[in-house]
Parts: sequence; C-alpha cells; structure tokens
Amino acid sequence: MNKITIAIDGFSSTGKSTIAKQLAKKLKYVYVDSGAMYRAVTYFAMENNIISHTFFYKDELIKRLDDIILTFKYNTSLGFAEIYLNNVNIEKEIRTLGVSKLVSKVAEVSEVRKKLVEQQKKFGENKGVVMDGRDIGTVVFPNAELKLFMNASASKRAKRRFDELIKRGDQVTFEEILKNVEYRDHIDSTREDSPLMKADDAIEIDNSDLTLEEQFDKIYTIVQEKLKTV
Ligand code: DC
Repeated sequence: MNKITIAIDGFSSTGKSTIAKQLAKKLKYVYVDSGAMYRAVTYFAMENNIISHTFFYKDELIKRLDDIILTFKYNTSLGFAEIYLNNVNIEKEIRTLGVSKLVSKVAEVSEVRKKLVEQQKKFGENKGVVMDGRDIGTVVFPNAELKLFMNASASKRAKRRFDELIKRGDQVTFEEILKNVEYRDHIDSTREDSPLMKADDAIEIDNSDLTLEEQFDKIYTIVQEKLKTV
C-alpha cells in the first residue's frame, strides 16, 4: 500500500502528539514531534544563558544554531522516538513549565524556524511520516495527503496539561497552566513567521468532548478513506 504524509497541526495541548503517536504505531509510520525540536532549542538557550524570563539574546542564539544537533532515537519500550540534543536524551527536560514559558519566544525567530523546517522536510522525504506541530500542513508539508487541525477549549487543554505535569510530580497550579496555554495560543497564532493557522485543505477535529478512543476511531476512519485514494 502506498504511504502518505500526515500533518497534524493545532493549538497547544490539543492532544496532537497522542493521536500522532497512535496513528504512527498503527500504520507503522515514523512519528516526528516538531514541537520537541523547538523545545530542545529553547532548552539549549536556557542552559547556555541565552534566554530566561528576564532576557533573550536572540543574536547569540542565531550565532549558536550550528552548535545544536537534534536527533530522534526510537525507544522500543516507550514505542516512540525520543529527542536528543548533541547526543544527550532531553525528552524529560523539554517538558517542564519553564521551557513551555519561553518556547514561543524562540519559535518566533525566523532563523530557528528555517533550520528546523529544513530538518523536518528531510524526515518526510520518503513519506510514511506523521508529524505534529503548528505549521506542518502550511509550511513543512504543504502537499501532505492528509492534514488534520486539532482543537479543544483552552480550559480543557489546560486541564489535560495540568494533570500530565502533576502526574510527573511537578509543582504547578491549574491557573498558571491555563495562563501559559492562552499565552502560547496568542503568540503562536499572531507571530509574523509561519503563524499557527488551519491549512485550507485541513480537516478540523474538535476533541473537547471526545474520549481518546472516540478520537482515534474518528481519525483512523479518515486515514483509511484517504489511503484508498492514493
Ligand atoms: O507542541 P508543543 O506544545 O510541544 O510546541 C511547543 C512550542 O513550539 C509551541 O508553543 C509553538 C512552537 N512550535 C512551532 O512554532 N511550530 C511547530 N511546528 C511546533 C511547535
């Protein structure tokens, strides 16, 4: 059967990565979490005193971009690929609220986007890839055979992210998570370079009131229909 490219975009914490991972597993496709790449660059900038909540030396980050080598390595027990920064696994480090608070600022920088989009396009050269992010259907894979745009209310999304972080043992409040979700929605959708938007040919899925299973069934049916046409 011919392989396709599946682009999944949407606001933060809409469950894009959950559905992308499930689809990739079922279809035996490669899953790429593009948000992890922006988070990894942000983590690098934090570790190298290039960004904090009080400063951002954008030019310094641009100068250091060649020092950032990002790779994904498949973890068989987890069933998905984890991200490595210069050969160090940083999958856990990039999921903190600290990184979430700064990542939108880093993702606004055109030079950062250019570097990451180039690498993302390479991941898709042989099709058979599911990638999630903000600009996958519009910029990275404008010709993807299937584009999904995920949505859910801000409070539902904040609750999901809050539960996730509490489960990990992080000390956070629901209010600060909600604030962060709304803040990132704003920056991600109003930035100049590649703002988050639904591609004209994307199918919108609002999962505010869907269980994970209902969501998967709905989307998998769409995928099956698409596969019949290629
Ligand atoms: O999907 P996520 O929440 O892990 O993404 C983290 C941030 O990275 C998000 O706030 C915006 C940015 N991002 C982006 O600008 N473009 C992408 N393709 C993916 C993420």
